[in-house]
Amino acid sequence: MAKLAIDGGAPVRTKLFPAWPQFDKREEQALLGVLHSRNWGVHVGTQVTAFEKKFAEFQHARFGIAVPNGTLGLEMALRAMGIQPGDEVITTPYTFIATSDVILLLGAKPVFVDIEWDSFNLDVTKIESAITPRTKAIMPVHLGGRPANLDVILDIARRHHLRVIEDACQAWGAEWRGQRVGAIGDAGAFSFQASKNITAGEGGIVVTNDEALAEFCWSFHTVGRTRTGAWYEHEIVGTNYRMPEWEGALLLVQLERYPEHIPVREANARYLAQLLSQIGGLDALPDDARVTQHARHLFIARYDAHQFGGHTRREFLDALRAEGVGASSPGYIPLYRTNAIRGAMQKMFGVTDLPNCPVTERAAAQAVWLFQYVLLGDRSDMESIAEAVSKIKRAWA
Ligand SMILES: Cc1ncc(COP(=O)(O)O)c(C=O)c1O
Repeated sequence: MAKLAIDGGAPVRTKLFPAWPQFDKREEQALLGVLHSRNWGVHVGTQVTAFEKKFAEFQHARFGIAVPNGTLGLEMALRAMGIQPGDEVITTPYTFIATSDVILLLGAKPVFVDIEWDSFNLDVTKIESAITPRTKAIMPVHLGGRPANLDVILDIARRHHLRVIEDACQAWGAEWRGQRVGAIGDAGAFSFQASKNITAGEGGIVVTNDEALAEFCWSFHTVGRTRTGAWYEHEIVGTNYRMPEWEGALLLVQLERYPEHIPVREANARYLAQLLSQIGGLDALPDDARVTQHARHLFIARYDAHQFGGHTRREFLDALRAEGVGASSPGYIPLYRTNAIRGAMQKMFGVTDLPNCPVTERAAAQAVWLFQYVLLGDRSDMESIAEAVSKIKRAWA
């Protein structure tokens, strides 16, 4: 039997996965174009405005307002919806902390609802029982680029007069039954932070089909100005959440390149899932026919320690890294277990009990993620990942 690399054997892979982020002359020219134009701010340049239009169109949305990052986008969209201190927002605990931070930063309370085992997205059968007279919105996350069940979420929202804000920070181009996410609910926010499938290092955008929300966001993100008003006329108390022209220029090129990446990630994700299913013990989350486009930001699988001789997930990930598959992570811990969220829930709302989220606990204990750029490799890269998993299983099982 082949000796595991972690025990001093030869690793399955020595080749690096594709570098991220990707760029070529187009990004260089775009950045130099802004430099030489001397139009470095959105109020004098054309790049951010062009990107807002193109990205909104790409997501099947009417309006897009670019901001410095996804966190501020989510926060601004919640403000636009009138979320106030003491309001409740139903959301998932299995996500990046920004999803809950923005709710708390507005003085509102995140109400955690458990997730589904097959998607790691909000379990829509558990939303209604979490609604109280203080509930104002539902914030699903399209985790890893897989849309949450928006049919049911929208239906519940309509019946209970709630807003829906989509955390689409990982879901560029993702589609739920043919419609791109972001503006299926009232509004959504995307991130262009460095690890993301479309990136300018940082960056974000809010998309919506609701003109009133769009106008609020536009005004709020540029210190309460109006589109037609004078420079020093301010109609509301706002802030400066404007995106600089450099980022707009880079993102225009990144968005142009993105359609080339979508089918590559998709084909590799499906191929890898199939190879892993033949090994057993590290199964990818199953695909869902209603997800007509998955953004494939994370390749998420579930580790079954029993099938690996009882070795822990940490041991598995260390062994996998030694075999040359380092672009992996155990993923999130449930947000309600972080000191940040626990402390805020106690201080702001006197909440000390943890919510009952058994599936989140199981997901957080068993998840194995691979990062999106791994999926930009070729079929032999997928085969070597599967070979590494198989080699570890043979050694341990
Ligand atoms: C699900 C989710 N929500 C929110 C964010 C926040 O985005 P940003 O890092 O651009 O502020 C991210 C990304 O980091 C994310 O993955």
